[in-house]
Amino acid sequence: MSDTPKLRSRNWFDNLADPEMTALYLERYLNFGLTTDELRSNRPIIGIAQTGSDLSPCNRHHLELAKRAAQAIRDAGGIPIEFPCHPIQETGKRPTAMLDRNLAYLGLVETLYGYPLDGVLLTIGCDKTTPALLMAAATVNIPAIALSVGPMLNGWHNGKRAGSGTVIWESRQRLAAGEIDADEFLEIAASSAPSNGYCNTMGTATTMNSLAEALGMQLPGSAAIPAPYRERGQMAYHTGRRIVEMVNEDLRPATIMTRQALENAIVVNSALGGSTNAPIHLNAIAAHLGLPLTNDDWEKIGHHIPLLVNLQPVGAYLGEDFHRAGGVPAVIGQLLKAGLLPHPDIVTANGKTLRENYADAPVHDADVIRSPNDPLKQTAGFLNLSGNLFDSAIMKTSAINDEFRTRYLSNPDDPDAFEGPAIVFDGPEDFHARIDDPSLGITPDAILVMRGAGPKGYPGGAEVVNMRPPAYLIKQGVHAMPCIGDGRQSGTSGSASILNASPEAADGGGLALLKSGDRIRVDLKTRKADMLVPEEELAARLTALTDAGGYPSPASQTPWQALFREKVKPFADGMVLEGAPDFLDVSSK
Ligand code: FES
Ligand code: MG
Repeated sequence: MSDTPKLRSRNWFDNLADPEMTALYLERYLNFGLTTDELRSNRPIIGIAQTGSDLSPCNRHHLELAKRAAQAIRDAGGIPIEFPCHPIQETGKRPTAMLDRNLAYLGLVETLYGYPLDGVLLTIGCDKTTPALLMAAATVNIPAIALSVGPMLNGWHNGKRAGSGTVIWESRQRLAAGEIDADEFLEIAASSAPSNGYCNTMGTATTMNSLAEALGMQLPGSAAIPAPYRERGQMAYHTGRRIVEMVNEDLRPATIMTRQALENAIVVNSALGGSTNAPIHLNAIAAHLGLPLTNDDWEKIGHHIPLLVNLQPVGAYLGEDFHRAGGVPAVIGQLLKAGLLPHPDIVTANGKTLRENYADAPVHDADVIRSPNDPLKQTAGFLNLSGNLFDSAIMKTSAINDEFRTRYLSNPDDPDAFEGPAIVFDGPEDFHARIDDPSLGITPDAILVMRGAGPKGYPGGAEVVNMRPPAYLIKQGVHAMPCIGDGRQSGTSGSASILNASPEAADGGGLALLKSGDRIRVDLKTRKADMLVPEEELAARLTALTDAGGYPSPASQTPWQALFREKVKPFADGMVLEGAPDFLDVSSK
């Protein structure tokens, strides 16, 4: 290790010019058994950013994996130091785990900046943990590598695959229609979560873990190995060894996560059928690298890419099947063969290029991972819509199913557009209270609208735009209605909703002016979504709303909610914080 660069941890532990501070910095790291020899031998100090805990069951297996990674860090000549991250459990946090993404980001930036760490191993998994940790690695730019916790095993119920989240969205329609009771609902939900690990569907977790690999921030093959498999522990070991080498090579996040890497990730996201939360998170990672990335980029780079991965909610299979079929390497291998990956020669965490890592990756099950010649859908990416309702909102057109197409997109004179009366809900509580109220008179051609559900309105932005039809329409066979909103939708939902509308109603967005009964027209060809209300009428409504003090939002319940709402940018800008310096690069400080 004679050619090791001077490590930033020596500023704490081996600063000859300041023996007093050095002694002070050292003493507490010695008091649990580390020795001065270890801490002053120019061995890389590697942080293990621990996201697992009893509060974060999706990532809890990282408590075990970190031990394996720590052994590897030692074997490679480093010193592991494990520390906790702010917990983010997608299914357990009120009002939404999304509120905590930026808080975990801020916490990790402070930790990486303020402590004697030369590199960091990021334990990723449950939805927001992955972007929060990658965002922090981007800002601080010390050598970093990610390790997925891996998906849960496949869930099964009555002999059929039961996928995380997806069975919830299906079962709630059956519960609303009186076909199952609350006990059966819980039993089905539990059957979809049979082991430790993250959601086994192509929800936000599988999406973001796969994109962390596509970006080059994980070792090849790391994303898809199920949490309980033996390979998961072995991958923890390889990852631990590699981060020590990365410190010695001075290979940093900004060298790996370039604009080209982000463009590759958009393409991979389409091929995966990835979550509609991915643009928010990737745009945020880009912002913290000081790189611009917009929803327009997502459409231009990703919309035409075919859907290759046959996973629920859009497809049939689950996480174990994805791993056995070849996982992310097989998907990237297919894209490389078809010439669809725009930048195959970018460097990744193992020091090799994507092409070197993945060109020969085999597909073991061609029904789970399709070839671009035989895709599940021809175009799998997102459309970026705009109009007088919002400046930008995305739609995952691959989620448009036959029922939706037949009911809303079957006019031969106007095959790419649909139009209907708006039914407006102000936040999820309003929706739950009124959706089955017959006085709303919801007809099958209506368009359900959810507002007050964005980053400021429902701090963090609620995952609620995928609204179910009223029970009386479900009983008539209407299972999918068009939904538009300034909130998000779970990546495990297969609804063809128009999401993440920016700016939101609570931030001056046009959705605030909409009234139930107004007609809305959505044209997928021209990418327009408008309320068909005359200009003068909209101007009058705006004046009335402004006089009334603007779109009403509930009071903040915690200090962080209040701070977050003051500073947060719209979903289209990644929901990052206003005024925060994006890219610090403290790697040598
Ligand atoms: Fe944690 Fe889905 S709820 S990964
Ligand atoms: Mg979610």
